[in-house]
Amino acid sequence: MQLYVDTANINEIRHAAALGIVNGVTTNPSLLAKEDPSVDVRQRILEIYEIMEGGHLSVEVVSTDTDGMLREADEILSWFPDATIKIPMIESGLAAVKSLSRQNIPTNVTLIFNATQAIAANNAGATYVSVFVGRLDDIAIDGIQVVQEVCEIWDTQDLESQIIAASIRHPMHIIGCAQAGADIATVPYKVLMQSLKHPLTDAGLQSFLNDYAKMQAEKAKLAGKN
Ligand code: G3P
Repeated sequence: MQLYVDTANINEIRHAAALGIVNGVTTNPSLLAKEDPSVDVRQRILEIYEIMEGGHLSVEVVSTDTDGMLREADEILSWFPDATIKIPMIESGLAAVKSLSRQNIPTNVTLIFNATQAIAANNAGATYVSVFVGRLDDIAIDGIQVVQEVCEIWDTQDLESQIIAASIRHPMHIIGCAQAGADIATVPYKVLMQSLKHPLTDAGLQSFLNDYAKMQAEKAKLAGKN
């Protein structure tokens, strides 16, 4: 399963990219709104694009009508031609996906909460379907189970869209989505960093370093005696 980082923060993206653990970045209007408002959206997106050196970058439209979404898609593509256009899972969005797919423009259908929405987005021609996990958990529906259902249907039916697990809130979500068979999990930076840590790794490293230092000290002592 590939990992994307779900953020519009330049420092976070730079760090995650430097570690070599992410193949892409997903943004949305809320994530962009968290960042410095003096930097315009185009400039920020282009900075992310440069850092990601050709990796996946989803940029979301904010129009809610098909024509408006298509106009925004044109604008985003004028910034960089390999953009993935992120479109909400609404009827006008599906029509936009159909049109973009006929022009071979990649789309990521977002705000998907069940398998029927995912199937419809796939059939409209979505390159990616983003299934939200955490927001389902928030309303006492098992988000991982929905990802499992979608993955099972994809296997049975041999459907084409790539499955992105989104709205990831903790490392267990990453494991659950990988077990389910999601192609990609897009993960907030904080969760991504948490997922790298294990107390036994830190304790083990400390003990290796201590033992090595002890051995060096003993060697130095022996050399001093001779
Ligand atoms: O990619 C969508 C994701 O950013 C939503 O996450 O935590 O706002 O539900 P969250």
